[in-house]
Amino acid sequence: MTPETSVNGPESAHGADYASIMRRAVELSLNGPAHNANPRVGCVVLDAHGAVIAEGWHRGAGTPHAEVDALSRLSPAQVRGATFVVTLEPCNHTGRTGPCADALIAVGVSRVVFGLSDPGDVEGGGGDKLREAGIEVIAGVCADDVMRVVRDWYDSAALGRTVVTIKWASSFDGRAAANDGTSQWISGVAARERVHQQRSEHDAIAVGTSTVLADNPSLTARLPDGSLYAHQPVPIVFGEREVVGEQLGQHPREALYLRTRDLRSALVELRERGIHSLYVEGGPTLASAFIAAGLADRFFIFLAPVLLGGNRLAVTDIGVSTLSDGIDLLVDSTEALGDDILISARRARASTTSDRKAA
Ligand SMILES: NC(=O)c1ccc[n+]([C@@H]2O[C@H](COP(=O)([O-])OP(=O)(O)OC[C@H]3O[C@@H](n4cnc5c(N)ncnc54)[C@H](OP(=O)(O)O)[C@@H]3O)[C@@H](O)[C@H]2O)c1
Repeated sequence: MTPETSVNGPESAHGADYASIMRRAVELSLNGPAHNANPRVGCVVLDAHGAVIAEGWHRGAGTPHAEVDALSRLSPAQVRGATFVVTLEPCNHTGRTGPCADALIAVGVSRVVFGLSDPGDVEGGGGDKLREAGIEVIAGVCADDVMRVVRDWYDSAALGRTVVTIKWASSFDGRAAANDGTSQWISGVAARERVHQQRSEHDAIAVGTSTVLADNPSLTARLPDGSLYAHQPVPIVFGEREVVGEQLGQHPREALYLRTRDLRSALVELRERGIHSLYVEGGPTLASAFIAAGLADRFFIFLAPVLLGGNRLAVTDIGVSTLSDGIDLLVDSTEALGDDILISARRARASTTSDRKAA
């Protein structure tokens, strides 16, 4: 895999403004589908004088990669000596399409500038292959801008499994429900609207069988007027009991019922199906099982200004018996939503490499 260097300045050693061209490539990448097995990738091709001669982007799994899409608009004479500016490291593996690194070598490009290295064990290494073929490679240009577009895909590729976001709504004293089980609604309208937005930003949404039995949830992502967001996450029910959610039957996506206790294997399989991000809505038992297994990567914690006491905790046993074993979180932001507070956090000490080693 090519080591990342930070090249965010406006000018490269060759005088071309690769940072602004990369930003154009990022813009092009947004034409691709946001929820797909493959990442969104954009590409701009420059001739030997630095003039833009083609643009391309990836339209989703099974279609040409961004570099190949741009190549298809050029004659062999135009491509020779060209510079390809592409958001992601050209791939080095044969999937549904051939390796892009080979395609670029074959047509005789002279330089490849890319934003982010491919973290995949199999797909990565395209940059090294290009260098070995004598092509100049500049890595890490506007890597942060690229990361903002492909974060879920990137993190799931680095972890080798679907990335997990745990969400809960609780009272200030950490209860997900009152003693009699009533929990709708702990949080206010603004918080609930945000939850629907967050659902729409994930590939899939998960609950445990007990939540299906207790709440008969629809698990759709809905706008304030009740209509559906364009993207609906795949609803997933975890648990061995044979439950069938009546409202889930009306969901625009077919629900998956995963009758397993092995959450890590389930996440590896989900990634193989192209699901990069999972929004775990609860209840407390399932959320705690993900946390205890070291599989909770991000957190959205909605705190409502009410005290409920009792034993219906938002998080139950997560395998922590003493303070020094506590699972540390890094807070990314806190935000007031009406009377509620949203804390966005992620697991501290979560090195993607060490997580993969633990697998
Ligand atoms: N405040 C909130 O944000 C919020 C959100 C959602 C739900 N809720 C409330 O939470 C309550 C339900 O929560 P709950 O904690 O009782 O149940 P739950 O987490 O919804 O479901 C628990 C079930 O998950 C299944 N499961 C799958 N993999 C598991 C694993 N690795 N470890 C443990 N369980 C696993 C088991 O089902 P099997 O026994 O079938 O195998 C288990 O019984 C409801 O009253 C609901 O209203 C609150």
